[in-house]
Amino acid sequence: MSESLATVSYLGATILFILCLGGLSHPETSRRGNLYGIIGMTIAVLATVFGPRVGAAGYAWIIAAMAAGAGIGVYAARTVQMTQMPELVALMHSLVGLAAMLVGFANYIDPAASAQMSGAEKTIHEIEIYVGILIGAVTFSGSVIAFGKLSGKISGNPMLLPARHWINLAGLLVVIWFGREFINAHSLSEGMLPLVVMTAIALLFGIHMVMAIGGADMPVVVSMLNSYSGWAAAATGFMLSNDLLIVTGALVGSSGAILSYIMCAAMNRHFISVIAGGFGTTGGTPAAAGAQPAGEVVAVTAGDTAELLREAKNVIIVPGYGMAVAQAQHTVYEITKLLREKGVNVRFGIHPVAGRMPGHMNVLLAEAKVPYDIVQEMDELNDDFPQTDVAMIIGANDIVNPGAQDDPNSPIAGMPVLEVWKAKTSIVMKRSMASGYAGVDNPLFYKENNRMLFGDAKKMLDEVLASLKS
Ligand code: TAP
Repeated sequence: MSESLATVSYLGATILFILCLGGLSHPETSRRGNLYGIIGMTIAVLATVFGPRVGAAGYAWIIAAMAAGAGIGVYAARTVQMTQMPELVALMHSLVGLAAMLVGFANYIDPAASAQMSGAEKTIHEIEIYVGILIGAVTFSGSVIAFGKLSGKISGNPMLLPARHWINLAGLLVVIWFGREFINAHSLSEGMLPLVVMTAIALLFGIHMVMAIGGADMPVVVSMLNSYSGWAAAATGFMLSNDLLIVTGALVGSSGAILSYIMCAAMNRHFISVIAGGFGTTGGTPAAAGAQPAGEVVAVTAGDTAELLREAKNVIIVPGYGMAVAQAQHTVYEITKLLREKGVNVRFGIHPVAGRMPGHMNVLLAEAKVPYDIVQEMDELNDDFPQTDVAMIIGANDIVNPGAQDDPNSPIAGMPVLEVWKAKTSIVMKRSMASGYAGVDNPLFYKENNRMLFGDAKKMLDEVLASLKS
């Protein structure tokens, strides 16, 4: 393939990636967006493999690597549960970071890569390598820790070292100092030491950064690492002088940054304070310091729940992580269909950080074929709860915690929540009185108009459906 054909192919792929992102912004166009992405990526891979930079000698390596990668990918896609998706995404981000790191070192060691360069051009190339490895290393280790936290292999609590901000600042200064040493190095072996030291510091920084963030702030970490992985790819693009990789990396990087901003706005937190870490500790006070809810909970049966639903005119269903665990979305839709046939106005209220990944609930509801027009964002229906007869909360906890509004000492104080307690009756479906991801007690359970339907969400909803049908 000639250079110009490869360039045109890259341009086509870039346009398809932009159309892909545009399509993914709405559920109705997301399938089309996905298709654009698949076609764009296929063109990009073909144009790279058959492009002018890869000789026939490289094909065997590429085929072997693609076969191994595809094998692992197919295996992961078939075996990973829907509830494990967030940790899988974190793991994939770590691979982008690792790739950026390895490409950086290979690029530095490869004599052909910089043989033609001198003066300013050489310096710029070395800065690209240094920054690329830096971003790659932070992304790699940060994502591995995020994977550990999301999968429960590492405690979700923030780990706060004393003087952690000073440690970070010292690390930054050392990295800048070694950057200077690296650029001024006269030989490969002289430059290798600063590069290795910087990589070690960047790896430790990634670990430290994500270890310090915990609880309900994890959504921001996930989207932030998504953004970092994009910048790592863009940095790799600079190192390899590959325009497509630069553009694609920038698209992922900036969309991840926008997503992080949206997540922060959804949780009413400042980006910097999230990155600085320390969720769950208000001035050194442990998370449990929030006011303890008191009172009794009223448990109901599936039959009682069906009765309440049958008599309702307006129902809002609030799904959370527990719906994903129980895989209850199909039964939820069966119930919704039945109620709508009887003339009940049923809507779904989606909190921006419900579940464990952005858009988690939307994906599950789309899979169950719930019509998009009855799936609404928190802001669209939060004022409607006072006119709602039944708010049905399925495996959600933190996102419906009134303590976020009423208790200034609560670790999630200030986070906007779905005001389900304002409905005539709220019904919470969960298996026990256990707290949610943020580890905070929920005063909603003790409210007078709240009912608890204990049990696995899928099992209980099957019973509710059977009662509704009988
Ligand atoms: P959570 O607050 O985690 O509550 C989920 C509830 O589901 C749990 O209290 C659990 O109670 C219940 N549950 C689990 N399995 C169940 C089953 N099989 N049947 C019925 N109930 C079940 O979830 P949420 O309300 O969706 O809030 C999300 C939380 O995760 C927030 O704190 C958010 O910050 C955090 N987070 C979000 C993301 C993103 S990007 N969305 C990423 C990381 C973290 P039982 O054990 O008693 O059943």
